[in-house]
Amino acid sequence: MVIILNFGSQFAHLIARRVRDLGIKAEILRFGATADEIKKFNPAGIILSGGPASVREKGSPRPDKNIFTLGIPVLGICYGHQVMAHMLGGQVAKGRHREFGKEALAVTAGKNIFKGLPRRQTVWFSHGDQVVKLPVGFFGTAKTGSCRYAAFADEKRKFFGIQFHPEVTHTECGKKILKNFLFSVCRARKDWAMDSVAEGIIADVKSEVGNAHVVVGISGGVDSLVAATLLHRSIGNRLHPVFVDTGLLRKGEVLQVASYLKKHGFARLHVIDAGALFLKKLKGIADPEQKRKIIGHLFIRVFERTVRGELKKYPIAYLAQGTIYPDRIESASTSTAAAKIKSHHNLTLPEKLGLKILEPIKDLYKDEVRRVGLALGLPRELLWRHPFPGPGLAVRVIGEVTNERLAILREADAVFINELRTSGEYEKIWQAFAALFPVKVVGVMGDARTYEYVVSLRAVDSIDGMSADWHKMPNELLEKIAGRIIGSVRGVNRVLYDVTQKPPATIEYE
Ligand code: XMP
Repeated sequence: MVIILNFGSQFAHLIARRVRDLGIKAEILRFGATADEIKKFNPAGIILSGGPASVREKGSPRPDKNIFTLGIPVLGICYGHQVMAHMLGGQVAKGRHREFGKEALAVTAGKNIFKGLPRRQTVWFSHGDQVVKLPVGFFGTAKTGSCRYAAFADEKRKFFGIQFHPEVTHTECGKKILKNFLFSVCRARKDWAMDSVAEGIIADVKSEVGNAHVVVGISGGVDSLVAATLLHRSIGNRLHPVFVDTGLLRKGEVLQVASYLKKHGFARLHVIDAGALFLKKLKGIADPEQKRKIIGHLFIRVFERTVRGELKKYPIAYLAQGTIYPDRIESASTSTAAAKIKSHHNLTLPEKLGLKILEPIKDLYKDEVRRVGLALGLPRELLWRHPFPGPGLAVRVIGEVTNERLAILREADAVFINELRTSGEYEKIWQAFAALFPVKVVGVMGDARTYEYVVSLRAVDSIDGMSADWHKMPNELLEKIAGRIIGSVRGVNRVLYDVTQKPPATIEYE
């Protein structure tokens, strides 16, 4: 495995994903992790990520200097490249030309990380500083027009630095550079394949849980479904999945997930029909944060009641949940709302119930969760659903949530998603959904004037939900979807397509 020290880069997760895609487990640690902590992982290599700081600033982040005496190969990227040079006796200065964006790189020593790669290649820069003097034992391995040491190496100690970002797709040979580092320099062996990862998790859960029983919350989404499947393979019917139907899921979703689980032997599935209760508590509430709070608290109450009631007779010792890697790893780029909601549940429920926590997919990225699901035999149709917020349709009915509005939104959203699926557009999109605006506008149908709701369609391309671009949808498809929504969903007479990026907008409307 490989350790990535995170210096606050928005790309640390991207580096980890690239490394994992090459078949090597990557673990992100804070930049200050000590050499002793790192040694415990027995890593084949260490990668120092980029970051927004300047090594020339007082108090800018530094790794433990002892990582350079462990005898483990190190690859510094951008800030990581600069901090390594600085700490080992080189010099970093403000670049004469600030290099941002694409640059032409000239490789001067085509071995090690540049082995087998073209002498000229396009790379992506994003930092104002550069290394101007190398530490003793180092030599330059690549340059650009305005950056003399765009890459350097100390072959003896196996230290490498690159000023550019190999993890982004704009860097032409980025994947090959990482591959060279992992396999030629670090001599890492591939050990990160999803079927063996699944087997490992199942074995770990078995040995941790022993003969105890486990309760797991099913949200209807992909993560909790995969987590529950892994748990079921480990402990069979000592698993108690609790599916709280908040009445805020997409059309047909509760039935789809519940019948899949029942058909696949989850004998102790409890589906709690709490739709009316959620709606009652949401009555008259228009403020988004208040809605979220009400839903979060109510969810915990219903869950707790179920565990203390129906499940009381079982020796339940663990509460399992589908926390995934980005939810857990603290970094500037992972404070998603989803993470906050999950951690919120995390903090209160187990304490209240006196249960230990079990997080079987806590080391996996979303795409890995999906691939583990595939390895377990879960259907693609369930696994490749778009992300869905915890508070569900309540934050997509803008303003007050009513039964009527929920019903209209559910239908409009189903038409949208079905059309995306049949046209093959669905899997090209990070997230697509309909939202209902609580305003009525004038239209004309037949000879009569109508006065009905506005539906906005949102479809975005994104890597992790932190930033997003609106999806460039074929016009004919959009027109067809709008026509079908107006034609088949009562209560809507206008359909909008949202062409705002995030930032400045968010993906959701509330
Ligand atoms: P925004 O709207 O902040 O959304 O651009 C980014 C991603 O987070 C999801 N999201 C949520 N997930 N609870 C969740 O579990 C929430 O309250 C919540 N709000 C937004 C959103 O769907 C998108 O994928």
